[in-house]
Amino acid sequence: MYLSKKQEKMLDGEDGEGVRLAMQLITRIGDMYGADRLVEISRSHVLGHFGSLHIAGVELLEKFTNLGAKFIVPTTVDPISIEPNRWKELKIEPEYAEHQLRLIKALNEMRVVPTYSCIPYLIGNVPRYKEVFAWSESSAVAYSNSIVGARTNRMTAGFDIACAITGLTPNFGFLRDENRHGQVLVEVRKKELRDLDYHTLGYIVGKAVGNMIPVITGLSRESKADQLKGLGAAAASSGSVALFHVVGISPDAGSAEEAFGPNKPEDKIVIDEEDIAKTEDEIGTSDEEPDLIAVGCPHFSVPEIIDLARLVRGKKVKSGVEFWLYTSESICNTAERMGLIPVLESAGINVLCSTCAVVCPIRNWGFNVMMTNSAKFANVVPSEHGIDIAYAPLEKIVEVSMR
Ligand code: F3S
Repeated sequence: MYLSKKQEKMLDGEDGEGVRLAMQLITRIGDMYGADRLVEISRSHVLGHFGSLHIAGVELLEKFTNLGAKFIVPTTVDPISIEPNRWKELKIEPEYAEHQLRLIKALNEMRVVPTYSCIPYLIGNVPRYKEVFAWSESSAVAYSNSIVGARTNRMTAGFDIACAITGLTPNFGFLRDENRHGQVLVEVRKKELRDLDYHTLGYIVGKAVGNMIPVITGLSRESKADQLKGLGAAAASSGSVALFHVVGISPDAGSAEEAFGPNKPEDKIVIDEEDIAKTEDEIGTSDEEPDLIAVGCPHFSVPEIIDLARLVRGKKVKSGVEFWLYTSESICNTAERMGLIPVLESAGINVLCSTCAVVCPIRNWGFNVMMTNSAKFANVVPSEHGIDIAYAPLEKIVEVSMR
């Protein structure tokens, strides 16, 4: 891989040992993926949850801080495995919390922007069309590549940190125009999709295409950002979709022809009303009453909190049920100022910031069935925590869990 004189000096340690280590990492990965050179990035988003990084991740981040490394581009961070101020209340083991607190300390020393959220694109870390950046968090990667038309690969833990330290990333994969054309045509034949249908659709698409690039037709141009974030999160989870084109919405997909570019569709998938209903049934693994409600995957936005507050005003969560809502601290603060958080809390909803039901260990609660409106939660939670899933739209969740 070609390196400029400046980059060679960084690799030789001229900018310090932390930068040297980060350069070693990104040049090796770049060589592995056949990158021709390193390109500058403008922003980063890294993983920081102990649930995925484990002790090896803690030690790697501490190694970087001990070597004096700092992030040189604005860098936000994904949800973490504890609520920093409420971990005892959430039945987290002290030793586990200690590991997560070490990760927080290391990230802070490297000057992270402590957002602890998977929706950086809604809370200030906002890429623009064709901007090159380096993000972890599969749902955020899918959204920003697909709906914004910005350019990132799906980073992994450690690699993301190295990019943020150097301000560089290897030029391969989705950074290159020729790798962004559509590969599979997906025709959606259902009018008036509900919010849940976008999640279900993403789940179907991800399962069907794996890591290929789907071109989706049949969605309304009026589809909301929150619906598209649900679609992307599900597709990135059931498959490993990092880029999809929605015709009429994605910037490079004014038409299906434009989205495919020189490619011919390798396959065509038709998804109708019956497929969506059937998949909705399949995603649920239990018909039992839920003892946990979990919403906010990806993290809830302000409009989603407004919707939920409208549905629960004057109601109360049934006894024997925990109702947890996940969002970022900044969105929570805004919702507080709007008077929405008191409405949720007086209904018995536990508003949890900075974490989520996947990255936070919740086994100690002994839950049997989690009800959720997120296909990503539904896809990951059974294997991660051994909890069954009931999958339903928000209105139904409120009906089942509240009186
Ligand atoms: Fe976000 Fe956690 Fe879902 S990180 S996308 S809320 S699994």
